[in-house]
Amino acid sequence: LNHLVDVDRKSIIEILLTGLSRLEYRGYDSAGMAIDGDNAQEIQIFKQVGKVAALRKLVDQTAQNTDKVFNQHAAMAHTRWATHGQPSTINSHPQRSNANNEFTVVHNGIITNYKELKTLLMTKGYAFESDTDTEVVAKLAQYLYDSNSPISFIDLVKGVLKELEGAFAFIFKSSHYPNEIIVTRRGSPLLIGLKTTQKLKVDFLDVELPTDVEASGMLAVPNNKPAPRSHSRTFMTENGEQQPIEYFIASDPSAVVEHTKHVLYLEDDDLAHISRGELRIHRLKRDDGLSSFRSIQTLEIELAAIMKGSFDSFMQKEIYEQPESVVNTMRGRVNFEANKVNLGGLRAYLPHIRRCRRIVFIACGTSYHSCIATRALFEELTEIPISAELASDFLDRKCPIFRDDVCVFVSQSGETADTILAMRYCLERGALCVGITNTVGSSISRETHCGVHINAGPEIGVASTKAYTSQYIALVLMALQLGDDRVSMAERRSEIIKGLHELPELIKEVLKLDSQLQHLAQTVLHKEKSLLILGRGLQHATCLEGALKIKEISYMHSEGILAGELKHGPLALIDENMPVILIMTKDSLYPKVRSALEQVTARRGSPIVLCNTTDTSLAGEYRSIAVPELPDCLQGILNIIPLQLLSFHLAVLNGVDVDFPRNLAKSVTVE
Ligand code: G6P
Repeated sequence: LNHLVDVDRKSIIEILLTGLSRLEYRGYDSAGMAIDGDNAQEIQIFKQVGKVAALRKLVDQTAQNTDKVFNQHAAMAHTRWATHGQPSTINSHPQRSNANNEFTVVHNGIITNYKELKTLLMTKGYAFESDTDTEVVAKLAQYLYDSNSPISFIDLVKGVLKELEGAFAFIFKSSHYPNEIIVTRRGSPLLIGLKTTQKLKVDFLDVELPTDVEASGMLAVPNNKPAPRSHSRTFMTENGEQQPIEYFIASDPSAVVEHTKHVLYLEDDDLAHISRGELRIHRLKRDDGLSSFRSIQTLEIELAAIMKGSFDSFMQKEIYEQPESVVNTMRGRVNFEANKVNLGGLRAYLPHIRRCRRIVFIACGTSYHSCIATRALFEELTEIPISAELASDFLDRKCPIFRDDVCVFVSQSGETADTILAMRYCLERGALCVGITNTVGSSISRETHCGVHINAGPEIGVASTKAYTSQYIALVLMALQLGDDRVSMAERRSEIIKGLHELPELIKEVLKLDSQLQHLAQTVLHKEKSLLILGRGLQHATCLEGALKIKEISYMHSEGILAGELKHGPLALIDENMPVILIMTKDSLYPKVRSALEQVTARRGSPIVLCNTTDTSLAGEYRSIAVPELPDCLQGILNIIPLQLLSFHLAVLNGVDVDFPRNLAKSVTVE
């Protein structure tokens, strides 16, 4: 935050704490802030283990002179998901260069060469207090300052960056450079929100201006033509006056949306320097071929979308949003009368995709499950060979990728490090890269050649729910569009499109099962240690995703098992005590699932069957969860919802803070 206007310390602290709590879903084991002290040469640091509320308490207890008014101001805060070093006060951010807080740094990501740097700095006499990789960065800044002063802040930070390997987004602040802040990124997201007290001249916000034009509304950096090292921009109001600006820097728009909707996304190796109310963007190296424009975008999310409303948790709210979020994924893309699908973001690339040798889906966690769920439909409608890969494993194997491959990266956040690295690997090898994300402006949506935004709205709960169903639908739409040149499939396509039309109402029906599932959780499953979820074919993905939901938020062990594999090992687990859910909705594999049911009951197991409401053959005989019927390839969208609700109730019964399960983070921006 940087003001040219008068601002009191109390409101700065409040803005930082509220912003942190909006980002908390991405990491929440400790939090901290660095804020100016009474004189410009002094920085105060507050740090606390636990959630942002604990930091707020500490600040309330200890912050003195909160009414102090600053004319300009720069402060920063961080909420952490530990990578190096346990969650502790000393390991939380900001990290500092010494006891005088001369250089303070907050960091997202991992510095992979930190050990070498630490050894070097120790030999130079710098003592370390934490186990973090980040402390090396603060100490390195100190070392470069001690050995090169006088030096400008920007040159100093450039010097630091040149030594670092890994992925990062940083904020630097220093008592030697009061009222200045430098932020930079490589591999981790970072954006700057800009707010003026009056309306910005909007037409300037939408155009890209060449670097050498000194005009308002656009920030530009030098490209391959002779140009100054950086550009400073002033912002004009509608009546042409220059306005003071507040800058809000964050890793995620949810932290800034209540202050401004005008944001600028930084690119890798951009350094944004905010000094006395002016913003300049520098590049680490000149003439590196990157576009010289950083356009200001208008955020489309609303504050209400990132608030819980009347629900107790974001996860519950997001489960209940699914009748609307699936409509938002389809809006403007499906013509139900004409049986046509049109994904504008893919249109120009359709001939290329149809000609490809194979399609490789690459994703992590829940997003990977959406690929598994729709793989068979792609194979059926397009007859293109499909593979689905977990991003980390794909990279570990250095999977061969060629120019005639199409690689599809599915990611809710668009910022998952494993998926981004896999994307860059495929880009380097010349494959056509398609991004399916929920986050406009994310790294994956910016760096892929083309793609689809799933438009599910912000997902805050760590356990992904509405993003899964929307990814699923976006992939179904993609398969429909790719396959619409095959006349033989016309009937199948219209059956699916009809199913998509019915989907929102049917989701509402499934949500009515909520109290039944709460009862099931309370009376049958709550005290159990383990839960097996069996199914096959299209429902294998539902088993994997259901088990992931249960594990991640209720901490109960759960495993999704392909029913066809039961006899090859997992059957040994079955007895009268092992809880089992068997997914038995109607599709071509129903007879085979029926034999899995018999295999389980023959071992005295008494599975709960997830079946269709129309399936009278099971009624009365088994405990059941009954859902409406849809075409087989869409059934998984309805089937996952009872498992989402079940995991939610198990988590509540186990006393878990459902939006903040231990050890996890919403968006894992480290490898
Ligand atoms: C984390 C989250 C998961 C998510 C996965 C992939 O592990 O906890 O819920 O499925 O990342 O995230 P992405 O944003 O790439 O879909």
